[in-house]
Amino acid sequence: MRRILVVNSKGGCGKTTVATNLASLYAALGKRTVLYDQDPQLCSHTWLEQRPSDLAAVHGVAAHQRVPVGFTRSWCLRIPAETERLVVDTAAAADKPQILEHVKSADAILVPLVPAAIDTRAAVGFIKELMTVSKYGCVRIGAVVNRIRNGGSRLGELERVLQTLGMPLVARLHDNPGYGEASESGLGLHELDSDDARAELGNWQRILAWLEEDESIRLPMPAGASAMHS
Ligand SMILES: Nc1ncnc2c1ncn2[C@@H]1O[C@H](COP(=O)(O)OP(=O)(O)O)[C@@H](O)[C@H]1O
Ligand SMILES: [Mg+2]
Repeated sequence: MRRILVVNSKGGCGKTTVATNLASLYAALGKRTVLYDQDPQLCSHTWLEQRPSDLAAVHGVAAHQRVPVGFTRSWCLRIPAETERLVVDTAAAADKPQILEHVKSADAILVPLVPAAIDTRAAVGFIKELMTVSKYGCVRIGAVVNRIRNGGSRLGELERVLQTLGMPLVARLHDNPGYGEASESGLGLHELDSDDARAELGNWQRILAWLEEDESIRLPMPAGASAMHS
């Protein structure tokens, strides 16, 4: 099983967006996938509740979910033995012991970052801490710059900071209406039948290739080739 942690102490930078899209992609690629929601806000869990049952199944585990009557907490939190990809969506402002706990067991870490001056400053401290912690576990850490708008002036600044920190920039995701649409309906971007969404898929190919360390990896068939959920 490969564990992928999506983390940043900042809220709203795209952790849930990255985690849910990744989970739906892995599932569509035929990997037995668990989406582990570590955030008390349960956004990934809510996304999964909306997911149409005819799409590739993602198994959900939510650390802060109320345990239904008749079930034990450990049963609700179990990761099925046959799981191939575990995608962990984390809470904003996760404190160090919490991060450490997840970093220790992660195979790869994705840090979504938005190109804004104030976020870049906050991110530097967080990334340095993450790198220090992860040295012990030899984890691969990569940045996903998110919500890039045409003409945005802060991207260069953020890229220079990442370079200085020696952190690979795995992909640049654009501000795209498809993400909101997909998040409301339990879909990944690749499951939307829209030109906007399709224009963004090359970035997801880059993310998968980096995570899997396999440049030849191909995305599942894009929406339009099979039954549509638009
Ligand atoms: N690239 C993007 N383009 C458009 N909207 C986005 C993008 N990334 C995230 N969003 C939206 O921004 C909001 C916050 O993103 P989210 O993934 O929930 O952040 P986090 O989990 O880090 O708090 C959500 O409404 C999401 O749909
Ligand atoms: Mg979130």
